[in-house]
Amino acid sequence: MPKTDSSRLIVLGVSGGIAAYKAAELVRLLTDRGYQVQVVMTKAAQRFIGALTFASLSGRKVITDLFEDNTSPTGESAIEHIAVAQQADLLLIAPATADVIAKFTHGLADDFLTTMHLAYDGPIVIAPAMNSNMWAHPATQENIAQLRARGATIIDPDAGELACGMVGPGRLAEPERIANAAERALLAESPGARDLASETVLVTAGPTCEPLDPVRFLSNRSSGRMGYALAEEARSRGARVILVSGPVVLAPPRDCELVSVETAAQMHQAVLDHLSDATVFVSVAAVADYRPRTVAALKLKKQTASLTLELEPTPDILQEVGRLKGNRTIVGFAAETNDVVEYARAKLTAKNCDLIVANPVGADAAGTGFGSSQNQGWLVERSGEAVALPPMAKREMASRILDRVAELRRKVESSVTAR
Ligand code: CTP
Repeated sequence: MPKTDSSRLIVLGVSGGIAAYKAAELVRLLTDRGYQVQVVMTKAAQRFIGALTFASLSGRKVITDLFEDNTSPTGESAIEHIAVAQQADLLLIAPATADVIAKFTHGLADDFLTTMHLAYDGPIVIAPAMNSNMWAHPATQENIAQLRARGATIIDPDAGELACGMVGPGRLAEPERIANAAERALLAESPGARDLASETVLVTAGPTCEPLDPVRFLSNRSSGRMGYALAEEARSRGARVILVSGPVVLAPPRDCELVSVETAAQMHQAVLDHLSDATVFVSVAAVADYRPRTVAALKLKKQTASLTLELEPTPDILQEVGRLKGNRTIVGFAAETNDVVEYARAKLTAKNCDLIVANPVGADAAGTGFGSSQNQGWLVERSGEAVALPPMAKREMASRILDRVAELRRKVESSVTAR
């Protein structure tokens, strides 16, 4: 029988770092939401914050040592890490130091937390916090990639001023965001609770290539990463996913139906072909707005005079889906160099969307946007409200966008059943 929230046990591993104090707020948030929280502290964590704080907030004795009470006649606590591993519904590490991340990656087991990690086979959520250089170091990044590949959820650290005085990524994510991810990881465990399980999500991704002649084309810098992250995230939340993709170098996401196209016209056709199945349309593709009016059958030869290309508009796929909206939830993207939110609001109205993800591109978007693994921007609502999305991994952004899509779907469903 599935456990109720009040019997769900989250083991919160707190490792050593200045951000350890933020874990106290996290315990409060999780217990307020009805979860049982068992705090496990590493030795280093105990130098930053007292176990008593966590014991008071969680109402449970904090585990600080692998061999604590090992002298008891029953010897029970010697296998406490196994018992805790068996009882836990989620293992959450916040803050996770570079050291704990490395130990998890390589299977070291030299304290309670790392030993329990090896004995545990449920969902894991890791919220790293460290100095920017430590975070950026290839060793840490490779470890993170391995943990992700094993199925752990990584909550990318925020950027900002760090305790060491540096400015950059490394700051522990806000407790609210960590609590949301923990809750989602718990939800994903019970198949009935996958929040997009009854949806078919149609996603466009990548650039389009508009041929000039048999060897040349007009295109743009889109890597397809944001659209692929959205497709993967929607799939992991139970949706059927149809991904219409322009040419990219990414591996096809697992369990998604991939339709590969080259041009805007082909993407337009593929979207229309699958639209009747879709309850959600997410238009991430950087569709070329223009294509050459004529495509030369033979390779164009160099001339001494300058060459003028005549371009004609391509179909606006999102706008057309907006016209055919029905009960669908429609999400558009807007990449802008200036007046980002204002332009996004105008696009939302013009294309009849429910949400627009507005991304700054160009000089203001250093390290994020096209080609990068990170993104940032605003989530613009029909009401005009714009929620800021700070720089984060594209997968994390996909998850934030889909949180909102899931809420909007629930509203559509309740208004349909109320009729
Ligand atoms: N879009 C589309 N078909 C097109 C052009 C754009 O479906 N032919 C979609 C994109 O996938 C994105 C949204 O429309 O979700 C906005 O794209 P963007 O290029 O930012 O806006 P445009 O409408 O092309 O306007 P402009 O280039 O003037 O900013």
